[in-house]
Amino acid sequence: MPNTLDKSYVQNGPWRDGVFQGKVVFVTGGAGTICRVQAEAMVLLGAKAAIIGRNVEKTKKAAAEIAELGDSADCVLGIGGVDVREVADMKRAVEQTVAAFGRIDYVIAGAAGNFLADMTNLSSRAFKTVLDIDLVGSYNTVKATLSELAKNKGAVLFVSATLHYTGTPLQAHVSAAKAGVDALSNVLAVELGPLGIRCNCIAPGLIGGTEGVDRLSGGLPVTDAVKKIPLQRPGLTKDIADGTVYLFSPAASYTTGTILVVDGGAWHLGNLM
Ligand code: HXC
Repeated sequence: MPNTLDKSYVQNGPWRDGVFQGKVVFVTGGAGTICRVQAEAMVLLGAKAAIIGRNVEKTKKAAAEIAELGDSADCVLGIGGVDVREVADMKRAVEQTVAAFGRIDYVIAGAAGNFLADMTNLSSRAFKTVLDIDLVGSYNTVKATLSELAKNKGAVLFVSATLHYTGTPLQAHVSAAKAGVDALSNVLAVELGPLGIRCNCIAPGLIGGTEGVDRLSGGLPVTDAVKKIPLQRPGLTKDIADGTVYLFSPAASYTTGTILVVDGGAWHLGNLM
């Protein structure tokens, strides 16, 4: 390979029309704010998508709306009634996706649960519940899709966070879970790399208008927190979609085992809230 570029560099770039044509993305938490926009970006660039969620109606509605961005009404499948904690549910969701679309190339492990609770009010069951959804659910998601990923030399994107980089009060459960997600991603990048499977994390910071921020702020305005962000604005769901497209695209074909932090530089300061 010559160490120079030509015009094909742009023509083959991450945001070219149809870059994900013929590919299928499997998205847990895909009816939620952030993962939904990740799915929208993939569909706009040609992918078919399976939107996986616990709530049947919410999942079906999100899938139908995302499909309006794609090539055809059936380019997005909503699979509701699926709990990432349940191995049998995940197996069924994968079978339904493969039956509908024939394959799975990309996986977004985004399903998460969170609430504010200090150690006094955090029961053992509550702690375990969040570990089960965020960490064990991410493991179950990769486990269930592994044979498809291996067959298609696919890629996984875990949706992590930044709150475990420092000690974020009231977030012991999520911090422990997301630290585990980062570790899981790193190990799988090494283990699955030889199979041609890439594994990365995206770590959103304060992303405006999301359920996560609502929960962390207790529904209060985040104006003071935003003033502390080095880039002086809240993140947009589009910022996360952009990172997602890059990490799944051929432009990231040599990138695995990394964490893309998309937070306006905020984590360097510690807690914003
Ligand atoms: C203390 C709480 C609590 C709270 C629930 N629990 N809410 N404890 N404070 N606010 C406790 C319950 O009392 C119970 O413990 C245990 O948690 C399990 O609760 P269940 O309701 O039985 O669990 P379940 O129905 O499975 O619900 C899971 C959930 C819920 C996580 C608790 O909030 C949920 O389903 N969330 C999904 C949507 C969500 O959270 N989205 C946010 C994504 S944003 P006991 O001991 O009483 O039995 C996100 C961003 C993270 O995750 C990163 C941010 C930057």
